[in-house]
Amino acid sequence: MKSFYVKTFGCQMNENDSERIVAVLRRQGMTPALSADVADVVVFNTCTIRENADNRFFGQVNMLRERRVREPGMRIVVAGCLAQGEKDAIFDRAPHVDVVVGTHAIGSIADLLERSDEERHVIDVSTGDGSIDPMVDLVPEPAEGHKAWVTIQTGCDNNCAFCIVPQVRGPEVSRPFGAIVDEVRRLAEQGISEVTLLGQNVNSYGRDLTKRLRRTSDGIHDHGFLAGPVYVSDGIRRIRPLFSDLLRAVSGVDGIRRVRFTSPHPKDMREETFAAMAESPAVCESLHFPLQSGSDRVLAAMHRGYRGERFFEKLELARSIIPDLAVTTDIIVGFPGETEDEFEATLELVARCEFDSAFTFIYSPRPGTEAGAWTDKFVDPEVIRDRFERLKLVTERSGAAKHRARVGKIEEILIDGPSKRDANVASGRTRQNKLVHLAGVDGERLRGSYLNARIVDAGAHFLHGELLGPPARGAHASC
Ligand code: SAH
Ligand code: SF4
Ligand code: F3S
Repeated sequence: MKSFYVKTFGCQMNENDSERIVAVLRRQGMTPALSADVADVVVFNTCTIRENADNRFFGQVNMLRERRVREPGMRIVVAGCLAQGEKDAIFDRAPHVDVVVGTHAIGSIADLLERSDEERHVIDVSTGDGSIDPMVDLVPEPAEGHKAWVTIQTGCDNNCAFCIVPQVRGPEVSRPFGAIVDEVRRLAEQGISEVTLLGQNVNSYGRDLTKRLRRTSDGIHDHGFLAGPVYVSDGIRRIRPLFSDLLRAVSGVDGIRRVRFTSPHPKDMREETFAAMAESPAVCESLHFPLQSGSDRVLAAMHRGYRGERFFEKLELARSIIPDLAVTTDIIVGFPGETEDEFEATLELVARCEFDSAFTFIYSPRPGTEAGAWTDKFVDPEVIRDRFERLKLVTERSGAAKHRARVGKIEEILIDGPSKRDANVASGRTRQNKLVHLAGVDGERLRGSYLNARIVDAGAHFLHGELLGPPARGAHASC
């Protein structure tokens, strides 16, 4: 019996794809290994969003070179976004890799592995057959017993000038409404109580479904399954299902207590989504709202489709509709041509937005993207470093204030298990997705439980809480 190890780089969507890869390999009778050093098949599920993601992968795959040469029966598979975009570079820089499989073809990994017994350098970066549900028959195996990712949409139809994702993930394809709700139901039956809906632009969910419904000639006449009108809670038969319909349907599934989603795009975010968040008790008070820059010129050059002030208005609207909302964001520093004044506009807007936390990135040119070709406008790395540190001060200041504001509150915590550092401390998440440590609590035994705790202290990246006892059955609010 062969063993496998899957190493994942990149975003939650890749994590979810890795769970599908695990399911495919298990179906072949393979078993998980404890590490890449002992596995018969090592799968790298790669990311190429920034250059350092590529470099981390090449560093790790090259550490297996000697072992691969020594053990002819061993196999190395490279999947994911880098595989889709740079298949030739992978074999050039890591010739000991056996199989390269793109983002649309993970279902064929088992066949490709079989072919690798006869052929060197097996490749499948085909882009799918446009079937109704690109994920059909690839049911992921959630890594944890109490929460799961659910991909609702693959690809991206936007053209942010810095971003490689549309190239490596293809055009936006929404999964059928009914398939998503069924998947969440199945997960709930297995004991999963928290789901995170995944897509590159979740609030454009459904845009493509009606078109596909018209094109469909393969006997799918169940409009509810494909486009979801039967699930629309307000009784209006829409031409297409909206993300807000999906939020309401998923949060209504028996056994689901928490629903999260990532990422929405600010340009497409509408009031109806905020309303669905506020009106669905299971949808958590947590929003990832990626700003990227506070300068209108830079936002336009990025093709983001909104201005800074419009972003701020939508953020205020969200906060007015959803009480106690936590907001996180993404910001890029040093986009080609970014001037000192433009960077200061980012600092100002970020300070006004008072985010709970921010993922800040140094611009990384990606081959084949629009901005990647603007070499004459690249900003000096020293200047970028300095800006990056200044931005961090501003984001950390609001993050710390938001954390301090939780002290004294009673929060519902979903326990994830023992803390990584101390087995006598349990770790979990509040509805706002803040990490909480509970000293003297058995995280192993209580994994997956919902408990109420008083927040007693706040650090930069986590909170400390004291247990109050189990919450009332069905209680969702964090008081
Ligand atoms: N679809 C998601 C983004 C996925 S990529 C969205 O629109 O929010 C996650 C983040 O990586 C982006 O929000 C952006 O801040 C950052 N990013 C993407 N390409 C980058 C690049 N070339 N250099 C630096 N950061 C980048
Ligand atoms: Fe990339 Fe923009 Fe699509 Fe997000 S919305 S994946 S940043 S192109
Ligand atoms: Fe990376 Fe692909 Fe996600 S490039 S961020 S793994 S969509």
